[in-house]
Amino acid sequence: MLNAAAAERNKEPILAVLQESVNTGRHLQALEISSGTGQHVTHFAQSLRNIVWQPSEFDRQSLASIEAYRAHYQLPNVRPAIHLDASLPYQYWGGIPPESIDLVVNINMIHISPMACTEGLFKGAGAVLKPQGLLMTYGPYAVNGQIAPQSNIDFDYSLRQRNPEWGLRDISFLGSIAEKSGLFLEKVMDMPANNKCLLFRKESLV
Ligand SMILES: C[S@@+](CC[C@H](N)C(=O)[O-])C[C@H]1O[C@@H](n2cnc3c(N)ncnc32)[C@H](O)[C@@H]1O
Repeated sequence: MLNAAAAERNKEPILAVLQESVNTGRHLQALEISSGTGQHVTHFAQSLRNIVWQPSEFDRQSLASIEAYRAHYQLPNVRPAIHLDASLPYQYWGGIPPESIDLVVNINMIHISPMACTEGLFKGAGAVLKPQGLLMTYGPYAVNGQIAPQSNIDFDYSLRQRNPEWGLRDISFLGSIAEKSGLFLEKVMDMPANNKCLLFRKESLV
């Protein structure tokens, strides 16, 4: 069971957003993309029992950690983690059928992966979500070309030093690539530590 300090800090504020954004009275299917250690999915699943959670990861060591969390908490509403590369078309996402998911959750991946992952995330979410389904992303973002405060500017710089393909993405840019997949930015919520939650709704393109 790997432990990420950031996940420990942000799991409760993100859960609060989910609790006010999803229907807690209906049986729902959720897919988490880039589940990391497994801390988030097991935390969310304990409170949102009406949702069946499908964790996924690209990194094999993280997949083992998610399984360790699953074994520890024994939650009936968390499925075995699947290997999922967000940059690939949804047909390679472990057999998830189109229009079968009510909620896609993606935390702290968009800025720490190449743009192909972000593009794949929106394309894939647009395909696997049911009509009116929700994609929630969490992380630090640029707003109208500006990054603030200085700590996020420094963070963006350090990410780009580590990998030129990484870095904070602009919310309006994300909104425009989301729309190509039928996902519309519905809400931007400020979160602790200069992060945000973005809520995208799948709507009909016509
Ligand atoms: C900063 S970690 C965040 C993990 C977790 N969501 C959290 O908040 O603790 C970034 C994650 O993105 C994942 N990732 C990197 N490339 C990916 C890809 N192509 N598809 C899916 N996930 C990817 C990494 O394996 C890593 O778990």
